Amino acid sequence: MDSLIIRGGKPLKGNINISGAKNAALPIMAAALLTNNLTISNVPKLTDIFTMKRLLQNHGSIIKVTELPDQFNLEIDCSNINDFTAPYEIVRKMRASIWVLGPLVARFGNAKVSLPGGCAIGARQVDLHVAVLEAMGAKIEIDHGYIKATVQKRLKGVHFIFNSVSVGATINAIMAATMAEGETLLFNCAREPEIIDLCHCLNKMGAEIEGIATSSIKIIGKTSLNNTNYQIMPDRIEAGTYMIAAAITKGDVNICGISYDVIENLALKLIEAGINVIPNENGVRVIYNDQIKPVDIHTNPYPGFATDLQAQFMSLMALSNGSSVITENIFENRFMHVPELCRMGANIIIKGNSAIIRGVPILIGAEIMASDLRASVSLILAGLTAVDETKVRRIYHLDRGYQELERKLTDCGADIQRITGEV
Ligand code: UD1
Repeated sequence: MDSLIIRGGKPLKGNINISGAKNAALPIMAAALLTNNLTISNVPKLTDIFTMKRLLQNHGSIIKVTELPDQFNLEIDCSNINDFTAPYEIVRKMRASIWVLGPLVARFGNAKVSLPGGCAIGARQVDLHVAVLEAMGAKIEIDHGYIKATVQKRLKGVHFIFNSVSVGATINAIMAATMAEGETLLFNCAREPEIIDLCHCLNKMGAEIEGIATSSIKIIGKTSLNNTNYQIMPDRIEAGTYMIAAAITKGDVNICGISYDVIENLALKLIEAGINVIPNENGVRVIYNDQIKPVDIHTNPYPGFATDLQAQFMSLMALSNGSSVITENIFENRFMHVPELCRMGANIIIKGNSAIIRGVPILIGAEIMASDLRASVSLILAGLTAVDETKVRRIYHLDRGYQELERKLTDCGADIQRITGEV
């Protein structure tokens, strides 16, 4: 297992190019199952992308990968899908595998997808995914740890209200409805920019989706969808992570290739914390001023503060000149970075789903363990600013979500090095 050694204290200065969004690329790859050929560009080079590729190949897709310096192009041929099972062995590695469920049952009337099971950040149920497909007429059985979904002819359009806002279930429902018979109206949908990206791709494939970017989405089902090509949007979570990296290292970084709209919610919180955030035509420039002020945040569905940036923001607040409270409203076990940050000298107490952070003047390097994707990167951010050396173990999580993290940070002056193969 690889580790990272970071010698902290170097302000980041320079430009960072943002890669394609993992959380848009994964559902769009699953949406390829709705047509014969889908070509997608700006796909990030991440292990989660390989996991989804393996899953689609397991269903019978043929995928041609063209490697460019900073992205993949994928040509996904789904004209001969012959296996409708998403096996546990693949699904356990990546929860996003659940997104083959909707497309498979909508186009082929048959899907058998392993239940994802527990994951590091909480129980993460799939009841909403199941409920909406059942409402569309799929017969669902849970058998030996698998969700089996079948439908005789086509799924039927439905009016459905989600009991709570779920990114994953909204995605599965939209994809299924594009090939259901008649009209579907979905209420209380998630509105994440990655869902908007998926909807634009589906409409390019000939789907008829209205109300994109709102919580009420209308879809007129089609009997088939067309071949097309689509460019994946930039990754707002990667961009947000580097914005916080600039702030925490007292740096000055241009984050390039991101649209300000999708990172404005973070930008506003950084500005409240006393950081200069200046939008420009190619992205945003983040400059440390003279202090980090304490700011409270509550994670919420978009446009609320993203749970995927909560851990990184906590590293920043660990160094603020006061006390702040971070409340996690999406996942019940998403504070695993806290004990590790405390080992670096942070003063953080957890009370229920809130963390109370009393800022300290410095963090000190230590040997720490990465536990999930965003927790891992929050520890890297802490290491970049800490006094002395930080060693982060188990960084395989990072390769799931951050393309060329060490290179991007080193190019801005960070001292960070990967040690391969160490246990
Ligand atoms: C997606 C993102 C993840 C992000 C999350 C919230 C990807 C690959 N993952 O995850 O990075 O952190 O959105 O923005 O894009 N829930 C249920 N029943 C369900 C489905 C969800 O109770 O059927 C609950 C979950 O347990 C969780 C909450 O709803 O507490 C939000 O989950 P959801 O929005 O579905 O997150 P994911 O799609 O898993």
